[in-house]
Formats: sequence, structure tokens, C-alpha cells
Amino acid sequence: MSVIPIDKSIAQRCAVLGLDFDKSNIGEDIKSTLNAAEEFADYQKDLTLNLGNSGTGMRLLTGYIAGFGKECTLIGDESLSKRPMDRIAEPLKDWGADIDLRDQKFSPIKINPSNLQAEFTYELKIPSAQIKSCLLLAALSSKTKIEIIENIPSRDHTERILEECEADIRREGNRIILDGKKDIIKKYIDIPGDFSSAAYLMAANILSKKTNQIENVGVNKTRVAFLQVLGEMDAMVMIRHPSIESNETRANLVAFCKDKLKGVTIDGDRIPNLIDEIPLIAILAMFAEGKTIVRDAKELRYKESDRISLLLSNIKSFNPDIGIKEFDDGFEIEPAEDKNMGIVKIKTGGDHRMAMSFMVASLRSGKKVEFDDMQCVETSFPGFFNLIEKWYQ
Ligand code: S3P
Repeated sequence: MSVIPIDKSIAQRCAVLGLDFDKSNIGEDIKSTLNAAEEFADYQKDLTLNLGNSGTGMRLLTGYIAGFGKECTLIGDESLSKRPMDRIAEPLKDWGADIDLRDQKFSPIKINPSNLQAEFTYELKIPSAQIKSCLLLAALSSKTKIEIIENIPSRDHTERILEECEADIRREGNRIILDGKKDIIKKYIDIPGDFSSAAYLMAANILSKKTNQIENVGVNKTRVAFLQVLGEMDAMVMIRHPSIESNETRANLVAFCKDKLKGVTIDGDRIPNLIDEIPLIAILAMFAEGKTIVRDAKELRYKESDRISLLLSNIKSFNPDIGIKEFDDGFEIEPAEDKNMGIVKIKTGGDHRMAMSFMVASLRSGKKVEFDDMQCVETSFPGFFNLIEKWYQ
């Protein structure tokens, strides 16, 4: 078994669709989605489902349930209750769903009985796999046809699972067409390790000059732009023994850096392909030579925390000499030597990626970091701190 947990995106899609997978090492987000999906599968009458911290779970299940047109309310924890849900409610309502949001934007999401129109075309305004998947799942459960126009590609796990389960789905250029009338065949899905979890260990290798190999990591091409960025920063990644199972490629990865890291500029269409790795890129940037600039990444503000403002304020606490510029859609980091060796207190905002990123930063600087919340890491990577201690300390 790989040291990293199974892919959180793929597992939550399987959970919603009721597909079997190995549930022996899963984080809180997958558990929340699994529990909610299982409760929904037993639907008797009006239900309230709690998705905890899982934005993916909430957005995917909303589509799936709206397609069935069954009365249901979806709630989440404090952080999830602050994340925008109008991005999925609006297209679903245009399609015929009856959905109420708190203040027309947030959960609780109240789904009322309704029928979706037989055919619907939607051009994604935000390059988001969650919106795309919400609509695909709605077409499947409502047995209707959807055509999604996707101008900037985002992760394609839903399309791959549906293909694997023999749904009537095809891609024509930038259009994804699914006819939900054809039922899927329920199969066991062999889920690879989560690339976004592996990314912390790759960065840890680079910053602590180790060469640990991470096995069975999902390397779906819509997820791995981080590898290209590592190359641009002068780090290297060896990709060993690639293979395909359940329509997803996986491989063993070894990341390392022989020389100094270089700053990098990231913007445009590749942002969705590395959105979850941007906090980690900012950490690497703190120890690189030259500036790092990230633009076109406003979506970071709508994640488990506002990942632009919280990241930058934590970098300032980590090393006040680092130069920082904040943009509405990104940031600039100008590294500086760290002359302060005191304990750093990191504010996680309950965001797993914030905690893991600064844990990795501490490996390079040798600085002690204290987190206001360590539990949040359980949403995606149970055992993360123990593994870091075992491999890097
Ligand atoms: C996810 C898609 C991304 C990503 C999130 C998981 C998914 O969000 O940030 O962690 O499983 O589809 P968006 O689709 O909102 O960009």
C-alpha cells in the first residue's frame, strides 16, 4: 500500500455513484461524502445531509440529488458554509432544478422536487471540475442529456469514471456530451494515490535533499502541471513504472533537487491543473532564487480558506524579510535569507493544505512551527505528521 491516501477527487466521485473502492485509508472528506451518499441511497423522505468540510462532496451531491429531483438539504461545517454554491445552483436552476441557497449564495442548500429539461447546454464560466462534475452527475441521475463547453480544461476524473463504467459519454474538442439515459455499470474502481498529497512529499524531498520514492501516485495529465513547475524551478522528478488501472494512470515518483531552486511565473490556462498545489509552490518560492509570481488564480480565495491572504500572512510570520505583493488573483514572493529562528505560529484557518505546506517549510529552515489546528490535516491526509517525522526528521 502506498504511504499516501487514495485520490480524494476520484474517491468522492465513486462515493456519490455508489462504486466500490478500497476504503481502508481514507480522510474525513471522503468519509463525509460516503456517509452522505449512503444516507441518500436509503432515501425515504426529506433528508438533511452533512458534508462536513467537503466542498467537492457538497457540489457533486447537489447535482446528483437535483437530478433525481428529491427533496433534500445539504449542510456543512463553518468553513464550507462560507464557500460559494451559486456557481452550481445557477446552472442547475437554468436547467429546471428548484434550489434555494442561504443569501442566494451559500449552504444550507435546499433542493426541492423538480424535473430537469431533457437537454441542456452549458458553457463553464469558471474552469472548475466541481461544477463540470455536478452537471454530469445531474444528467446521469435525471437521465437527461448535457453538453458542457469547457474552454479551459480542469481535472477529468468524472469523465474517466463514467467512461470506465460504460456511460454514453464522449468528448468532441472542448465539448463533453453525456446522455444520462444509458445506465452505468457499477464496477470496483482501483483508485491511485492522491497526486496532491504526494506533492507535499515531493516538496519535502526537494527542501530536505532526500530521494524518497512515493509509490502508486495518480498522474492523470489534468492533475500534474506541478511537475512541470518543479522542472521550471530546477527540481527534477523521476516517473517510474507507469501503468493504467480503472482508466487512470499511476506511477512511482521520486522528486529531488541537485542545485538551487529558481523562482517561477505561473498564470493562464494551467492554473486549474495545479490549483491545489499553489500553496506549496509558494513555500518552495520562499527558498528559491529570484521572484515567484502567480496570477489568474482568484479561485484560491474560495477554497477551504482564502488561500491568497492566509498564505501571505503566514509567510510574513515565517520570515518577515520575505518581500510580498498581494494581487486580487495571485501574489508575488521575493525570497530573503531567514535570520529569525524563533517559533512560528501558523494560522491554518482550518485548511489542511495551509498546515501541510508550512510543515514542509519547516523542514528546510529547521524552524519550529506551531499550528492553531493540526486536526484539519485529517480531511485529506491522515497520518501526515507521523509520516513527515518518519521520513524527514
Ligand atoms: C476538485 C476540484 C478543484 C480542487 C478541489 C477538488 C474536484 O476545485 O480545488 O480540491 O475534486 O473536482 P474546483 O473544481 O472548484 O476548482
